[in-house]
Amino acid sequence: MAAVLKHLHRSCRTWYRNVCCRLSTVPAVHPTTSDKELHVPVMAKEVIESLQPESGQVLIDMTFGAGGHSLKLLQSAPNITLITLDRDPVAHDIAQNLARGFPGQVVPLLGKFSEVPELLSAHGIEQNCVDGILFDLGCSSMQFDVAERGFSISKNGPLDMRMDGARGGDVPTAADVLAQADEEDLARIFKVYGEEKKAKKIARAVIEARYTFKKLETTSELSELVAAVCGGDHRLDKLQRHSHAATKTFQALRIFVNNEVNELNYAMIIAQAYLKPLGRLVTLTFHSLEDRIVKRHLSGNVSENAVNPLPLRYSNPSLCHDQETVSCLFESCWQPVHKHVLTPSDDEVEANPRSRSAKLRAAIKMKV
Ligand SMILES: C[S@@+](CC[C@H](N)C(=O)[O-])C[C@H]1O[C@@H](n2cnc3c(N)ncnc32)[C@H](O)[C@@H]1O
Repeated sequence: MAAVLKHLHRSCRTWYRNVCCRLSTVPAVHPTTSDKELHVPVMAKEVIESLQPESGQVLIDMTFGAGGHSLKLLQSAPNITLITLDRDPVAHDIAQNLARGFPGQVVPLLGKFSEVPELLSAHGIEQNCVDGILFDLGCSSMQFDVAERGFSISKNGPLDMRMDGARGGDVPTAADVLAQADEEDLARIFKVYGEEKKAKKIARAVIEARYTFKKLETTSELSELVAAVCGGDHRLDKLQRHSHAATKTFQALRIFVNNEVNELNYAMIIAQAYLKPLGRLVTLTFHSLEDRIVKRHLSGNVSENAVNPLPLRYSNPSLCHDQETVSCLFESCWQPVHKHVLTPSDDEVEANPRSRSAKLRAAIKMKV
């Protein structure tokens, strides 16, 4: 596993670190929220059918959020041991409440995917011993809906966007990135993580704003700036509804601030390591960048560099890997559960528009 991690996303990691090192940080905002169920779990029925939980199994919900999927998993079969993970302390508080409702069954962990090996070993959980793992990627409704978290275009708040909230001490906020990243890095962030066609124009406008106006500090200031740059662009989402011109810029900043691409690559390697043979992995992704990463891992075709759109097998021919690394990278240990990727029903999309871009992939780990 260490060899694979070393080769994965080397230059992406370096670029992320380099940009972060050049940015200073501000104290974290830690808004409070009630722990009532705020997140309607997406494709919950399909998730349970794909994971097939059974009595006595050990499962991990790697993205606890408001616990919607976790609750369904606990209700799906008796005596399940459920390990829950989230990097957001607000979500962790909710997981602790859930644990009180299911005594002895829930182990709430606070941390990121990249911290999972240490967190699991502290609880005596070894590799190759977990029956099922779920990832419901992206932000929770709680994060989007609390203006102070800074994720939302429609709710004015500080440009924070750190999922870790109070834990994210040394992580730059979105405002830090906008204030200090250079034009080239900004354009790259908007283009790669937001797939934004006007990335360069928006990056130029952000730089100009530093001198002409003042530091961009709120979600409204950023969304108004991007709307002004994109002028009369009429953008439609997948439901053919008008989407805000700044949607992709917000997505890009959020992915960058939370290092989501690298976290997802770690996540997929960790899932492979901790599932037992015949254990099941289910992923819910919400944009093409996430889905591409999951798809490549499941097919054994792992990209050497997340910024480079080419899968590893087509990329730099001068790269030398030892035999162990090559077989690790190219041989998939996964067998898909479904012939095609699953998407939400029309009824679900209507009832919960946030599910509209969901893609569910499920796979069985076939060998150690
Ligand atoms: C879409 S929400 C999950 C919602 C949840 N399934 C439910 O039903 O309530 C995604 C959650 O994953 C968490 N998350 C995202 N990236 C993470 C990472 N790298 N490590 C740990 N948690 C992460 C976020 O903080 C967020 O709470």
